[in-house]
Amino acid sequence: MGRYGSNKYDGTRYCGYYTQEEIKEVVQYAADRYITVIPEIEMPGHATAALFSYPYLGCTKGPYKVMDTWGVLDDVFCAGNDSTFTFLQDVLDEVIQLFPSTYIHIGGDECPKERWKKCPLCQARIKKENLKDEHELQSYFINRIEKYLNSKGRRIIGWDEILEGGLAPNATVMSWRGEEGGIEAAKQNHDVIMTPGSHCYFDHSQSRNEDSVTIGGYLPLEKVYAYEPVPAVLNATQAKHILGAQGNMWTEYQKNPAKVEYMLFPRIMALSEVLWSPRSKRDWADFERRLPVLFSRLDARGTNYSKAYFDLQATVAPAPGSGGVQVNLESKLKNADIRYRYNTSEFNPYTSPVMVGKSVEIGFSTFKNGSPVNINTLKFTFNKATGKKITIVNAPSKSYPGDGAFTLVNGIQNEKGLSKSNEFLGFLGKDLDATIDLGKDMEISAVTVRTLNQNGSWIYLPAQLELTISPDIDTTLITKHAPIETITQLVKNEQNIQTIRLPEPKKGRYIRILAKNFGMIPSGKPGAGNPAWLFVDEIVVE
Ligand code: ACM
Ligand code: ZN
Repeated sequence: MGRYGSNKYDGTRYCGYYTQEEIKEVVQYAADRYITVIPEIEMPGHATAALFSYPYLGCTKGPYKVMDTWGVLDDVFCAGNDSTFTFLQDVLDEVIQLFPSTYIHIGGDECPKERWKKCPLCQARIKKENLKDEHELQSYFINRIEKYLNSKGRRIIGWDEILEGGLAPNATVMSWRGEEGGIEAAKQNHDVIMTPGSHCYFDHSQSRNEDSVTIGGYLPLEKVYAYEPVPAVLNATQAKHILGAQGNMWTEYQKNPAKVEYMLFPRIMALSEVLWSPRSKRDWADFERRLPVLFSRLDARGTNYSKAYFDLQATVAPAPGSGGVQVNLESKLKNADIRYRYNTSEFNPYTSPVMVGKSVEIGFSTFKNGSPVNINTLKFTFNKATGKKITIVNAPSKSYPGDGAFTLVNGIQNEKGLSKSNEFLGFLGKDLDATIDLGKDMEISAVTVRTLNQNGSWIYLPAQLELTISPDIDTTLITKHAPIETITQLVKNEQNIQTIRLPEPKKGRYIRILAKNFGMIPSGKPGAGNPAWLFVDEIVVE
């Protein structure tokens, strides 16, 4: 119930399955429309349903619990027990009879190695097969399954984790944790399907307004259309290995088909055009021109599509001059009557960017017949850093880029966690290294880093914060400013808000904050073995 990590469960059966006859109907329905359905049979991880029914397939042999939530779990298929392969080959025999596709997706993602490390059978397999470690054991697993499917005339697809420990010889790689896995696979002359979380995950929000629970992220229509599936770093031969891309529609937060449609449309139309058109023919402006027709088709079909494209867009930018921010409001509707207000005062017509110089709430909406359609607000909390120049060393992930480094000093403090994930910069396995230029020497008594502690979503507090203050001596070269104060502080509590207080106030112009990433997610935690996310929404200087 609610977001992952709430630890509240309704205990009702999730249920749902297809009979063989039903699957045949699905496959035929798609084939009649020139679409091939490729099944994914997940292994060696994400298989607790199978382990519950067949506990002898796990390393501990159970008993296993029926899960009342989803996620990445330590219990996975035992790779040392030959029965696992007998079982999976039996499953795959059934699968290939139902699905005529050349490709069979065998998963391979998010498989913790905890059980394998302690399992005598898995360890015996490592020894017998001369494998280096558990990653090579996963590679052995996938290789063995590939060999079986190849012998039946089929080819495998696996998520990019199948690169770890060595790729199976004929595998096609589906790159989801960014583009790096796909790039690496193409360089190894393997076929690739791109589906990076930054551009292809349709379970991410498409509106900045909170319209329903999603897994997080912000993926508007325009960002999908801007996706280029062939990475520029590949040469012509390697680029041929990029077969295309996939849009992912995971349904943890989608209880009914109407919501699935809502999340898919219109983004799936943008991705289809990207994938089915040569790069030279892709043109966002032209797509936008054709959008009204696409929408009227969806209307005619009764498709429940998202209208986030028409949201009144508010963007926050530094105000010209020194200090302060400005809010730009923009609507895709022609001749929209846009109005704004400070706190609860009267609405004013919007004619130019709204200047914000102090803590205040800005309300805004388009108006129809003199009434607001949907009032949204931006609450600004000013401090010495708000609206100031900021530079960051490591770029945030393409999935959580916010509005660039300025997001950290735009005066907006996140109060909704992942529901407003576009207010954060997200760093995957990387540190935040930010320098703020206050413009002149100012008295500084404390610096606060507003972050997020949500381990269920792989998001961790920084391990350590380091604050460096430098005075205004040389205005051209930050590195020349000898620090007058450096304070290192371990993160001790579990609060989203971490403050470094100076023993006594110091004068300085440049403030460098180094927030060290937590590092690898420890075993027993969701996402164990993966790098942790560091989320930061604001740096507050007092
Ligand atoms: C994935 O999203 N775990 C492939
Ligand atoms: Zn085992």
